[in-house]
Amino acid sequence: MHVLTVLDHPDPNSFSAAAAERFMAGARAAGHTTELADLNAEGFDPRWTLADIRGEATGETPPDVARERDRIDRADAICLVFPLFWWGMPAMTKGWVDRVWSWGWAYDQLDDPEGSLQRPRSGVLLVPAGGRSDEIKDAGYQTALETSCTQGTFGYFGFAPRRLELLCGSTGSEARRLALLERCFEIGRTLERPQIRQSD
Ligand SMILES: Cc1cc2nc3c(=O)[nH]c(=O)nc-3n(C[C@H](O)[C@H](O)[C@H](O)COP(=O)(O)O)c2cc1C
Repeated sequence: MHVLTVLDHPDPNSFSAAAAERFMAGARAAGHTTELADLNAEGFDPRWTLADIRGEATGETPPDVARERDRIDRADAICLVFPLFWWGMPAMTKGWVDRVWSWGWAYDQLDDPEGSLQRPRSGVLLVPAGGRSDEIKDAGYQTALETSCTQGTFGYFGFAPRRLELLCGSTGSEARRLALLERCFEIGRTLERPQIRQSD
């Protein structure tokens, strides 16, 4: 498979960057090809502007959005890596989602997350989080993220299968961080193939 990893972190020495690197190493170990979209290093503009709105109507897609779509077109599996910020996506990832996966290209209806216009792709969310896993589960944040990100957003992306991996305790001990990075490698190495849709 060809695997696209979309990284949102401005610091190349961050835990998120290391998680992306280990995930890609695991994917390559399984024989997949990998490609990295490093949104901060590449200067992706997350702001949704009038050009985006007009582009939807005229079909004139802004060049930076077109480039992201070309990457997505090439990919059989997509992994998003971003640190958990305020129990959700950081602004860069959010803007990438808003601008790239727009109405008419990713979906054309709002009542069926399985009705994506995109072919099925294997989808993984690797989300480093400062909180402990028991805190995050007990407070219901894991369920909230599963609902909004995994079922909602990534359903409309056509990701099937799709999984959310919260890397809890990413600011913890060295041993904890190494164990989480090993998990990222294994997730890359055991990446599932996209599901065939019944209608295809
Ligand atoms: C603006 C901001 C918001 C954050 N919000 C959360 C949060 O809601 N829950 C949480 O567990 N950690 C939160 N954190 C901690 C980050 O998730 C943690 O620092 C990150 O996963 C560490 O990885 P990094 O080295 O890649 O930044 C937040 C950090 C920042 C800077």
